[in-house]
Amino acid sequence: MEARLQEAKDSIRDVIDFPKEGIVFKDITTMLKDEKHLATLVETLYEQYKDKGITKVVGLESRGFILGTVLAYKLNAGFVPIRKPGKLPAATYSEKYTLEYGEDEIHIHQDALNEDDVILLHDDLLATGGTAAASIKLLAKCGVNKAFVNFLVELDFLKGRDKLNTNFEVDSLFHF
Ligand code: PRP
Ligand code: ADE
Repeated sequence: MEARLQEAKDSIRDVIDFPKEGIVFKDITTMLKDEKHLATLVETLYEQYKDKGITKVVGLESRGFILGTVLAYKLNAGFVPIRKPGKLPAATYSEKYTLEYGEDEIHIHQDALNEDDVILLHDDLLATGGTAAASIKLLAKCGVNKAFVNFLVELDFLKGRDKLNTNFEVDSLFHF
């Protein structure tokens, strides 16, 4: 891995027993607060996706919003949020799911995407894959045919990728 990416990876902090006993939480705030690392992340992801014809970046609440909007701007694409219950004001599609430390539900506006869109689905982290699998189902409900799925961090040992059950290209910048 390129040195500046390795430095960014090394700046991610482990917080033990957060938010529950037994979870080692990957805290990306220690990486994002450094302007060099932030620039490295944005430039790397922009280079990776700039020629894919992306029309919309879909970001997962809440940590997927941080780089999701920056990438949308850089890629000259729109930004669409997937949000937790009770947050989106108009008609939504929804999916329930389990994640590494609980259960939740996510929503997307029914009119946010269409079959001609090329999507970059972005979140900070892939753990058990529940959130991402539910997000991919939401894309299908919106009629999406073409998407790329991107995470900053993938916890390989949790095998979340196996749960995604998708033909879309899936990539993570950092693996633990
Ligand atoms: C975290 C993370 C992913 C999800 C991954 O989100 O940002 O979205 O968990 O876990 P999974 O692969 O086991 O589903 P969280 O729901 O904690 O919300 P946050 O981004 O608002 O902190
Ligand atoms: N989301 C789910 N599991 C996580 C973990 N271990 N660290 C950070 N975010 C997470």
